[in-house]
Amino acid sequence: MSTAKKQYKRVTVKSLVDMKSNNEKISMLTAYDYTMAKIVDQAGVDVILVGDSASNVMAGHETTLPITLDQMIYHASGVIRAIDRSLVVVDLPFGSYQSDPKEALRSSIRIMKESGAHAVKMEGGSEIKDSIKRILKAGIPVMGHLGLTPQSIYKFGTYTVRAKEEAEAEKLKSDALLLERLGCFALVLEKVPAKLAQEVAESISIPVIGIGAGNGVDGQVLVLHDMLGMDHEFNPRFLRRYADLKTIMTEAFVQYNKDVKTGDFPSENEQY
Ligand code: KIV
Repeated sequence: MSTAKKQYKRVTVKSLVDMKSNNEKISMLTAYDYTMAKIVDQAGVDVILVGDSASNVMAGHETTLPITLDQMIYHASGVIRAIDRSLVVVDLPFGSYQSDPKEALRSSIRIMKESGAHAVKMEGGSEIKDSIKRILKAGIPVMGHLGLTPQSIYKFGTYTVRAKEEAEAEKLKSDALLLERLGCFALVLEKVPAKLAQEVAESISIPVIGIGAGNGVDGQVLVLHDMLGMDHEFNPRFLRRYADLKTIMTEAFVQYNKDVKTGDFPSENEQY
């Protein structure tokens, strides 16, 4: 049997489920603007997540809670204009879906209509099941998110690994089954023990995409700025740095500053 992987011209929610059935790992990265999204898309990454981590890495907030629906739509619109192939999933921000299913649907419709995104992501399990049902009924694909759910940081009190205790692990497993049964097309598992994540991935037919959830799941996601090494102070164990852009950019800025101050830039060839 051939081991060649199918080439997806355009990644859809169905392609992701097919990838899981074909044992093909799914790659996902965040992006929040046109220029970065274009590079990520052209690099062949399957899914671009317009994450509410924009609240941290783009706006400098301590948590994901302050970012608004309008701001998420602004970020997502730029990303959508950049892509040819990747599936674009947008986080429903804190406060845009927790109060009732009608509000959750209204927020999702705004994201789909005003940005052109392909799907939404929501944090939580049984607590938000009526909202998930309502959104799915309108034809909007939903990605779930369990484990460390940063919108609940003030309930957890810390960004440490979740579901290490039996009771929380059991609730996570039953929430994963529920999200599959409701019709979510994929699930993000954040910062949970690798063994538990693998068990969840093996128990459901929809893809499980992990961040700090080990290698036994169906795909991986990282925050773009973290994997590019733009912040040397953020060093969780799960993070692999693929570049040291902070150093590269700092060197460029320092050199530019020097060249301007000394009059070296612009040269004769760099003027009209
Ligand atoms: O907002 C985000 O970037 C996320 C990922 C960490 C999964 O939700």
